[in-house]
Amino acid sequence: MTTLHRISPSALHSFVQAIWLQAGSSAAEARLVADHLVAANLAGHDSHGVGMIPSYMASLTQGFLQLNQHVSIEKDVGAVITVNGHNGFGQVAAYEAMQHGIARAEKFGIAAVGLHHSHHIGRIGHWAEQCAAAGFVSFHFVNVMGDPMVAPFNGSDRRFGTNPFCAIFPRRAGKPLLLDFATSGIAFGKTRVAFNKGQPVAPGYLIDHQGQPTSDPGVMHQPPFGSLTAFGLHKGYALATLCEILGGALSGGRTTHDATLVTSHDAIFNCMTTVILNPDAFDAPGMQEEAESFLAWVKRSPQSGAAPIQVPGEWEEHNRQVREREGIPLDSNSWAQICAAALQAGMPEETLATWRALAQ
Ligand SMILES: NC(=O)c1ccc[n+]([C@@H]2O[C@H](COP(=O)([O-])OP(=O)(O)OC[C@H]3O[C@@H](n4cnc5c(N)ncnc54)[C@H](O)[C@@H]3O)[C@@H](O)[C@H]2O)c1
Repeated sequence: MTTLHRISPSALHSFVQAIWLQAGSSAAEARLVADHLVAANLAGHDSHGVGMIPSYMASLTQGFLQLNQHVSIEKDVGAVITVNGHNGFGQVAAYEAMQHGIARAEKFGIAAVGLHHSHHIGRIGHWAEQCAAAGFVSFHFVNVMGDPMVAPFNGSDRRFGTNPFCAIFPRRAGKPLLLDFATSGIAFGKTRVAFNKGQPVAPGYLIDHQGQPTSDPGVMHQPPFGSLTAFGLHKGYALATLCEILGGALSGGRTTHDATLVTSHDAIFNCMTTVILNPDAFDAPGMQEEAESFLAWVKRSPQSGAAPIQVPGEWEEHNRQVREREGIPLDSNSWAQICAAALQAGMPEETLATWRALAQ
């Protein structure tokens, strides 16, 4: 039986920073990691929030994740740059890659950034929001290098990652429109959250090691391993394939195949190809009004049930408002694993005791 704690976002942010400072991160790195993980929880994506800390700590201990790395530009042709993340924190690599891309888009109106060899870059919407905050539209194709979890359409074992796709459109009249999802029916982290809570996942998202449908999230966490399935039948699988090639190959990174398979389940490496556009570069002075007219029109559709009609990104915005007010929900299993990771980082038990009190 698990208990659900509610933890203040700012206190959780301080704890996450303390863990990574203890592990050896610079203050700037610890802050970027905490910013990203807590923001994922605030957005409602607990699969990519502070619950990732034990996995990151295991990756560090096993020698995969490298602390205090910065991206280096490997090829620069002006509007297109390719950067190497040097196996460093994705929260730093993707942040720096987007900063470079935004500067190029400011100069050229359009820019593309290939990021390869980055440790897990987490919630992709965070990087799109960085572009939107600077006034830009962006598209992101991402692959998960060498760590297959998803079966191809008509296949029965894992061949590629949960390869997210993301796009954002900044609005003058409100929060950006944000499309941000895994091309698997559900993100792997959502199976971890369900597994930790001892709950099944909804039918249709998982197959077992024999390719048979199951709702047991355990098939993703203990042998014999099963697979996730792609969303939207052949369409999701096709998008996942393009994320693998555009994210993994075009960026200068690697795709998933027998020569790149990783043996550890704790190290997650992402590659991402991002296109950043200045909307003002188009001859579209009525663009914002057109967008708002469409969104208002869509929302006037009579509701089919109890749930309201939302536009992409609104779900995250609603979660932010609730969680800023009520705190971030964390189950006791995930909390215990995060505290264990703090000890693993070398945090003394007396110091940890004060942080443990957050979840009383
Ligand atoms: N780094 C990686 O390797 C990796 C891999 C997979 C997923 N991820 C991340 O995991 C997170 C979760 O992915 P997911 O597939 O579980 O997302 P999801 O299924 O929760 O879908 C989220 C998307 O659907 C939109 N949405 C939700 N409800 C809506 C509604 N009622 N109407 C309209 N739009 C709605 C959201 O605004 C968002 O764009 C994402 O942030 C993704 O970037 C990362």
